[in-house]
Amino acid sequence: MKLFQPDQQILLKKTQPKYEIEFHLTIDSTNTRCRQLAQKNSQIPWAVLADQQNKGRGRRGKSWESPSGCNIYISLCYQNTKKYSVASLNFYFAVLWYEVLLLSFPDLEEALILKWPNDIYLEDKKLGGILLENIDNSLAQVIVGMGLNIHSMTADLPPVGTSLRQYLGKDLGENCRSELISKFLQRISEFPLGTKEIQRKFQQFSQKSRHKNYTYTYGSQNFTGSLQTIHEDGSASILTKEGLKRIV
Ligand code: BTN
Repeated sequence: MKLFQPDQQILLKKTQPKYEIEFHLTIDSTNTRCRQLAQKNSQIPWAVLADQQNKGRGRRGKSWESPSGCNIYISLCYQNTKKYSVASLNFYFAVLWYEVLLLSFPDLEEALILKWPNDIYLEDKKLGGILLENIDNSLAQVIVGMGLNIHSMTADLPPVGTSLRQYLGKDLGENCRSELISKFLQRISEFPLGTKEIQRKFQQFSQKSRHKNYTYTYGSQNFTGSLQTIHEDGSASILTKEGLKRIV
């Protein structure tokens, strides 16, 4: 199953007149391509989509598994006109995906969790993640790369990962990815949130992770603990065996 059959491309372009959407069957990384576009056409709201990435990048220099025919790989050149901080940007895009996923799959209400600072989980397995990159130091424009596992099955997934299909145990249909992307892009245009609202929603959607232990990373250190508080500056307090740790 290939994402972005011609009819899906037309559908996405029609529902998203605000975005110039570039489709790739295979690309190194949609974030890398987005950076090239931003440097050439800085004011245009671009979205770059790919069916497969061969150098998909994750946070902290990790790679991001990006097989073909399965998942969502999308990057945006986001015009940060609201002057969101890095923490708010992380929370904002995680919140948008959370809401779009719940609209499409209301049964996930119990299982869907946002894990600080921007991961999307189904219970204790990672469904998706967000990689924010600066174009320059001003934060006026940022590249927002998002990966979500939709149809991947066990062989394609890292041990801590899951996909919608794997979790729900059913076929989700060919148009699942384009429908989710369309809803997501629509929501960015229609629901710009204030910083306080973003923070409140992130708190609410990450609440369920408070009763669970997750692995968090701070600098080069990994540790396990449960989220206690998200502070106003976007940092988090995690309760570990050694006590409370505040991570930025
Ligand atoms: C994470 O480590 O949690 C962030 C993963 C971000 C992956 C996405 S897939 C689309 C975009 N292109 C990339 O190379 N990375 C991001």
